[in-house]
Amino acid sequence: MDLQTQLVHNKWQIDAQTGAVSVPIHHASTFHQFDFDTFGKYDYSRSGNPTREALEETIAELEGGVSGFAFASGMAAISTAFLLLSKGDHVLVTDDVYGGTYRIITDVLSRFGIEHTFVDMTDLDAVARHIRPNTKVIYMETPSNPLLKITDIRGVVKLAKAHGCLTFLDNTFATPILQRPLDLGVDVVLHSATKFLAGHSDVVAGLAVVKDERLAKELRKLQYSFGAVLGVQDAWLVLRGLKTLHVRLEHSSRSAIQLAQFLHRHPKVAHVYYPGLSHHDGHIIHREQARGFGAVLSFELEDEQAVRTFVKHAHVPIFAVSLGAVESILSYPAKMSHAAMPKAERHRRGITDGLLRMSVGLEAIDDLIADFEQALSYV
Ligand SMILES: Cc1ncc(COP(=O)(O)O)c(C=O)c1O
Repeated sequence: MDLQTQLVHNKWQIDAQTGAVSVPIHHASTFHQFDFDTFGKYDYSRSGNPTREALEETIAELEGGVSGFAFASGMAAISTAFLLLSKGDHVLVTDDVYGGTYRIITDVLSRFGIEHTFVDMTDLDAVARHIRPNTKVIYMETPSNPLLKITDIRGVVKLAKAHGCLTFLDNTFATPILQRPLDLGVDVVLHSATKFLAGHSDVVAGLAVVKDERLAKELRKLQYSFGAVLGVQDAWLVLRGLKTLHVRLEHSSRSAIQLAQFLHRHPKVAHVYYPGLSHHDGHIIHREQARGFGAVLSFELEDEQAVRTFVKHAHVPIFAVSLGAVESILSYPAKMSHAAMPKAERHRRGITDGLLRMSVGLEAIDDLIADFEQALSYV
């Protein structure tokens, strides 16, 4: 079945005991053991819960993996996956990485003796040059946040396999509807499910999916050892959001390309970053590894003052941290997603004081363009 159908028709569509067409929320923290010697499938909710399991199996199926793991946030998923590393290991990370991931790598992993190098992952020669004998993980984010840079997933996987390292990929922006990294050889797929997967700005959640049984066993152990699991109510919200993922993403992606084209033509916009524009670096690579361009774009105004004026007059999108929701969300990376990054580092990566990120929601595109047009007239 197509993923679009799988979102609605899957193992968890109907509760086997009651016929309920919504996954039951099991608020139990513990489970009675009917036999002294043989414990049942579930014993304690940190290690397993049927509601969380429904989400974990659903995301594993959608990503084409063997096991999925649900965490209390995207950062909990990413941090737990990093616990696969040990002291003395090295991780090669894409330059244009989410600010929270940057923080855990630079401020936390470094204290535990885990080394890192940031590299422009769009440049495969640079990736190859920076792999060290102790490199254990190559960490990708594509399209990346906030510059929508595109990494050649197959190219990085090939290098990683040649050097015996694992590959992690943050698939938050694309979701399995548009891109399935495990099919391209990636080892661990990570998500901030807070975004498109849940889709309604009402839950914070994270997911990880793997294709290899041995890795699944290790990650399962880390999940219940570290314990940053997703609560059942939140797991249910993500499951409900997933049912409409395809239609939401289709609508928002269609609007995003129109908005990107409008901004690209506008004289007050210095640059538009959107993989769907043919001049975008990586446009062709993205087309070869993904099924669509997504609903997030970034654009550059002259400076911070221009940004302030625009944000003051733009009325349709909310101005907030986050993305991937039913409502359009306008963000200012310099003070939001990338506030954890020192200014010099931020500027070096092209995340300037004039950059805005826009996650396109479900509003009518004509309303969005009209709103942006009038807001830009004040800039
Ligand atoms: C690409 C990406 N990865 C990870 C995260 C972290 O996820 P969470 O906020 O759910 O912890 C975010 C959050 O904005 C993100 O945009």
